[in-house]
Amino acid sequence: MVFLSQCFKEKDRIINLLKESYFMKNEFVLIIDFGSQVTQLIARRLRELKVYCEIHPFNKVHDEFLKKFNPKAIILSGGPASVLNDRAPKPPSNIYDLEVPILGICYGQQIMMQMLGGSVVSGSGTSEFGKSYVKLNNKSKNIKLLEGLFLKEGKEEVWMSHGDHVATIPKDFEVYGVSENAPFAIIGNQKKHFYGVQFHPEVFHTLNGKVLIKNFLKLSNFSFNWSMQSYLQQSVEEIKMRVGNKKVICALSGGVDSSVTAILINKAIGNQLTCIYVNNGLMRKNESEEVLKLYRDHYKLNLIEANEKKLFLSNLKGIKDPEKKRKTIGKLFIQVFEKHALEIGDVSFLAQGTLYPDVIESVSFSGGPSVTIKSHHNVGGLPKKMNLDLIEPLRELFKDEVRLLGKELGIPKDFLDRHPFPGPGLAIRCPGEITDEKLNILRNADTIYIQQIKKHGLYNKIWQAFAVILPVKTVGVMGDTRTYDYVCALRAVTSLDGMTADYYPFTHEFLSETATAIINNVKGINRVTYDITSKPPGTIEWE
Ligand code: XMP
Repeated sequence: MVFLSQCFKEKDRIINLLKESYFMKNEFVLIIDFGSQVTQLIARRLRELKVYCEIHPFNKVHDEFLKKFNPKAIILSGGPASVLNDRAPKPPSNIYDLEVPILGICYGQQIMMQMLGGSVVSGSGTSEFGKSYVKLNNKSKNIKLLEGLFLKEGKEEVWMSHGDHVATIPKDFEVYGVSENAPFAIIGNQKKHFYGVQFHPEVFHTLNGKVLIKNFLKLSNFSFNWSMQSYLQQSVEEIKMRVGNKKVICALSGGVDSSVTAILINKAIGNQLTCIYVNNGLMRKNESEEVLKLYRDHYKLNLIEANEKKLFLSNLKGIKDPEKKRKTIGKLFIQVFEKHALEIGDVSFLAQGTLYPDVIESVSFSGGPSVTIKSHHNVGGLPKKMNLDLIEPLRELFKDEVRLLGKELGIPKDFLDRHPFPGPGLAIRCPGEITDEKLNILRNADTIYIQQIKKHGLYNKIWQAFAVILPVKTVGVMGDTRTYDYVCALRAVTSLDGMTADYYPFTHEFLSETATAIINNVKGINRVTYDITSKPPGTIEWE
């Protein structure tokens, strides 16, 4: 009985805490997604404004959902469909009865108009793509949504991407702004606070888009105080409640995402979490030692180190094909991870560091499969195979927000700011056959290269930098002796998200100093080259 009453007390405590959360405090913006390429950016702008929001696909938003989440404002995203289509995606019609401000963007504006009695047309002269200008008309005076905008000659530079446009608006709406091919570029019903814009205020190229979004949020009196600290507290409580007294496992790779995931879950449930670090022998110099020290000594994580260097290297012996390497490494990883997870026994959850962009990209509106360029190494196959539920505490965050969360958790800045490192590790930076000798040469060259970059204060200006050992030996002369050694290629790129990239423009002085440092200090390399390929046509990694 005592135990039961304790359970109830704990449940009450958690419910009270959740009541404090953003949904209950009604500080939540619901973004209904119709599949635009830039929906994520709406969420980004809102978070920058310190307002909590979530994106949900249109077909998952129903009455129950709206009751539960109780949004304080709603944004309807853009999307690739045409509202003129019979099966055009729609939000539930009762969003218009919730008495909360609604902002429709592009497709969102068009579907709102169609549902409320306006109309949309398609044809010549209805489309605009790229830069455009919206001009105000005389109805726009004193409209709160437009405060601080249109100060320069009454026009704003915006970014458009539409084929159809709104042709008529319901009686209770007014038009405030027009562009060349959108006679209803900004419309609204001031009483209800329903607004629609044909352009995309969420993208960087709409110069004052963020001002418009902030004005929209001000209509609902948001307190603009969402912070990573509140996210952290909320996540800890949610994890506690979901896991109860069950066990969780997590694959730690040494990267930022899996580290933040594990440290956050550890904060919530302590030793009920077991982390498995698979040492595949493909890590950089001293990397395993350093990350394990952080996990064990600083965070006291319950950690299993699976030292499987021999297993990985023996299975990779003789393999030259990049895809075969990746598949071999992925398969072995799952095998090793599964073995240790089974030893722990009675595990219910697998923790993964899935980020927001991964979640959003997986909502496919086009339905078409994309071409596989490289088989990425991840733990995606595991939960199904092992019958585990997933815990993904980062699935609402962007990469830089994960770093902020890491900071809240006290993870050192140097660790959080590290360049990305791929799952298959040095294997894909060693074209041709992988040998212990080549891996060691590569580790030494990479260490010197990164030291040079740090010494010159360039590390944080570069998105990713690394050395590659080429499967070619060339003749050189050092002292008075002939050498016949490997070639090392250096790669450094700038990028936003790894999807596209450009090479970093080092100075000649930097390159020659670095080449000399590598050749003088790394036995086995007598020639250094710098890779000046962008992505596309290249990829960032060499394999
Ligand atoms: P690519 O070479 O495809 O790389 O231009 C883009 C980014 O992804 C990283 N990368 C991987 N990350 N598992 C990972 O976790 C992988 O299998 C993998 N392959 C490439 C790469 O380092 C770059 O940051």
